[in-house]
Amino acid sequence: MPVFSRPLLGEHHSEDDDLSVREINRLSAAAIREALSCCWDDLDVRCMPVVDSTNLEARRLLSVENKEYLVASSAQSAGRGRRGRIFYSPGDGCGLYFSLALPWSYEAQPTQVTTMAAVAVCRALETLYGLTPKIKWVNDIFLQERKVSGILTEGWIRPETQSIDALIVGVGINLVSPKAGYPQEIADTAGALADSISNQMTKLIDPNSLCAAIINALGVIIDELPDRAYMEDYRQRCFILGKRVLLDDERVVIPSTVTDDGTLVVFENGRYEQLSTGEIQSIRLDIRDDGLVVE
Ligand code: BTN
Repeated sequence: MPVFSRPLLGEHHSEDDDLSVREINRLSAAAIREALSCCWDDLDVRCMPVVDSTNLEARRLLSVENKEYLVASSAQSAGRGRRGRIFYSPGDGCGLYFSLALPWSYEAQPTQVTTMAAVAVCRALETLYGLTPKIKWVNDIFLQERKVSGILTEGWIRPETQSIDALIVGVGINLVSPKAGYPQEIADTAGALADSISNQMTKLIDPNSLCAAIINALGVIIDELPDRAYMEDYRQRCFILGKRVLLDDERVVIPSTVTDDGTLVVFENGRYEQLSTGEIQSIRLDIRDDGLVVE
């Protein structure tokens, strides 16, 4: 049974009152903190109406003090995607953008943390809205064949020691599609949460509850380490497994699984090969896919 969060403001709002919707959807550090589970008691939560990039802001905060931060914003002027791409982050209540900065002592590499965050996003969307999100390796969350969320995990290297002292997990979610549509480059692939739920329920998407639910889900996964049972969930949701996909180098391969450390195992020319995120720029389903499934 999907549970929908209540609006932050108690007043009644008319269906077409956009301003009211924006009011309801206002990010609030107090509201996020209230919805966080007790394992996040030490998290320093900060909300900003607009920022260049929440990942960059988290980096700035870490350089002052290495502790747990959550930086959330409703708009980014320089949202960062993987491989130096821009992550489209308009305001007007269209999106939720946040970064969790964690002093990190586990062995896990950033890619592994990305897989943890991907599962956490899916579980939160499933619990709050009854959706069935899918994952496109390694960091994209899809609903109805459209990308609704992306994750960028970066290591924070202390200049004095040159060691990774903290990880910054950045999550961007399209809540509502922009009225003027998406920029041309992503118009064919981008979608929003609201496109997958009913109109009435769209008004009740509360970014504070959503943000907290994702962080709580991630907390559960981190608490279970070194048990990596969440990777089974990741593989179940990863919709490119067993499908023919095109890599940016024009190769057509069939991904058979994702290892626990986030490596993609593909089948090509009669043999298996392991691909890391660093080796692949883009991956997309081959439209000529004939449904061949590899065991
Ligand atoms: C991708 O799809 O390539 C990853 C996108 C990650 C975007 C999020 S939004 C919050 C955080 N701040 C950023 O500048 N990027 C991440």
